[in-house]
Amino acid sequence: MKVLDLGSLNIDYVYQVDRFVRPGETRSALSRRVGCGGKGLNQSVALARAGVETWHGGAIGPDGAFLAEELRRSGVDTRLLRTDPDQSTGHAVIQVDGAGQNCILIYPGTNAALTLEEGERALDLLSPEDVVLFQNETNLVGELMEAAARRGLRIAFNAAPMDGKVAAYPLEKVTWLFVNETEGALLSGEAEPRRAARLLRERYPRTQVVMTLGAEGSLWLSEAGEQFQPACKVEAVDTTGAGDTFTGFFLRGVLLGSPLPPLRLATVASAL
Ligand code: RIB
Repeated sequence: MKVLDLGSLNIDYVYQVDRFVRPGETRSALSRRVGCGGKGLNQSVALARAGVETWHGGAIGPDGAFLAEELRRSGVDTRLLRTDPDQSTGHAVIQVDGAGQNCILIYPGTNAALTLEEGERALDLLSPEDVVLFQNETNLVGELMEAAARRGLRIAFNAAPMDGKVAAYPLEKVTWLFVNETEGALLSGEAEPRRAARLLRERYPRTQVVMTLGAEGSLWLSEAGEQFQPACKVEAVDTTGAGDTFTGFFLRGVLLGSPLPPLRLATVASAL
């Protein structure tokens, strides 16, 4: 069993700030670092470090070679990663404030350059027990979900970053749908998180709904019922990628088992 992550890869420019820039304002950052990111890459790294055989498919430009290196160092198979010589890699401009909160602006770059043909070719390499993982940072998500479902593959989908396209994806064919409370509210039309998660589960009865609730914890709604896991109390330094780590370790828990229940495993990993 393996997970194919047809996901985004970003160069993250992370600016430490005392507070976020407001409209019309110019401010100096306290520091800057450049690193690996993208919800897709982060989730592949989490999965591989959690012990799941992970393949990452997607595209980078020549400036993104170090992202592929990082994936390989973490144990991710990059045979399906394409380098487009004519485009730049996706990137993210991330402000992190003193409370560890962030705001993120992404430029898609090569993350918007996937083709249906390469996606389908990648899916053809999988076996029925494998899982395909998507986030909403690449093009053709809905089309490739359909292609994965036609092949009888299980689909995991992290609906981040949420936009107007998500509701039109074939979410009824998704096995695990990951949303945070804001995404859950937008998708369900219900602001109260628990009711929103239940509405999504009613709308997509074959889909397990995993909802993160920030500092409160997380919910998992499946045929086995409803589970709640309180968050770990930690001092937040930088929450960037915490949700991606949660997704990767949750999938490890449900796919391979673990001494901790999946929600608890994901919660501990994301807190770290
Ligand atoms: O989820 C965190 C990620 O979101 C960052 O790494 C950034 O690249 C954006 O995709």
